[in-house]
Amino acid sequence: MDIRVYRDYHEMSRAAAQIIADQIRSKPDSVLGLATGSTPEGMYAELVKMYREGKVDFSKATSFNLDEYVGMDPSDPRSYHRFMRVNLFDHVNFAPGKTHVPSGIGDNLDEQAMEYERMIAAAGGIDLQVLGIGMNGHIGFNEPGSPFDSRTRVVDLSEQTVSVNREKTEAESLPTQAVSMGMGTILQSRRIMLLANGAGKAEIVSRAFKGPITTDVPASVLQRHPDVIVILDAPAARLLDSK
Ligand code: F6R
Repeated sequence: MDIRVYRDYHEMSRAAAQIIADQIRSKPDSVLGLATGSTPEGMYAELVKMYREGKVDFSKATSFNLDEYVGMDPSDPRSYHRFMRVNLFDHVNFAPGKTHVPSGIGDNLDEQAMEYERMIAAAGGIDLQVLGIGMNGHIGFNEPGSPFDSRTRVVDLSEQTVSVNREKTEAESLPTQAVSMGMGTILQSRRIMLLANGAGKAEIVSRAFKGPITTDVPASVLQRHPDVIVILDAPAARLLDSK
């Protein structure tokens, strides 16, 4: 695996944004898989800056986000739809209808999840998938135990995930279910870039990338993918050499 360590969050965010910009430059109609959460916020800020400076053009690109909470209206401040608008979509030039976030509302979420898979396939599959990593090793909202061949579906969130996310976003309450791309969906991406920052992620980063491949640590399966870049700040990389 290609593990790259940067001095601080700002440096890693810039490096990650550069990788996305290079991807779009080499293939303007790239299909990007995008993540929410605190980790990629700096990367999105850099991408917005680069767009304003004329250094990246999203006009032919397509995006598919990893996940959304069940029952969450896209206008809800806690929703991942809203997160993406505020952090990226409202500030850059994706063409109308080219950005996708799974819907957490509707009469048949299972059918909608399957439709999401069909849309990804119809777009040609994901060229570059951006991931964060949860404190329990989840990628997307694939919690420990998620089968490596799982597809987009409704998932139950662990208590830890709900409480960590509630604390981070200062939300009073959060749903305990989400719609998430599956492990199999993520692994089908041609390239994957996982980001992690902060000392709090050091332990799980080392278990995921230096430990055994196991469904107990979902991100560990990335060791099997032929084209993964892991972008870390120094605190998150702290335990990598000791295992
Ligand atoms: C977000 C997602 C999650 C987060 C993970 C880390 O779309 O799918 O897997 O990447 O929970 O979250 P942060 O970045 O807030 O630590």
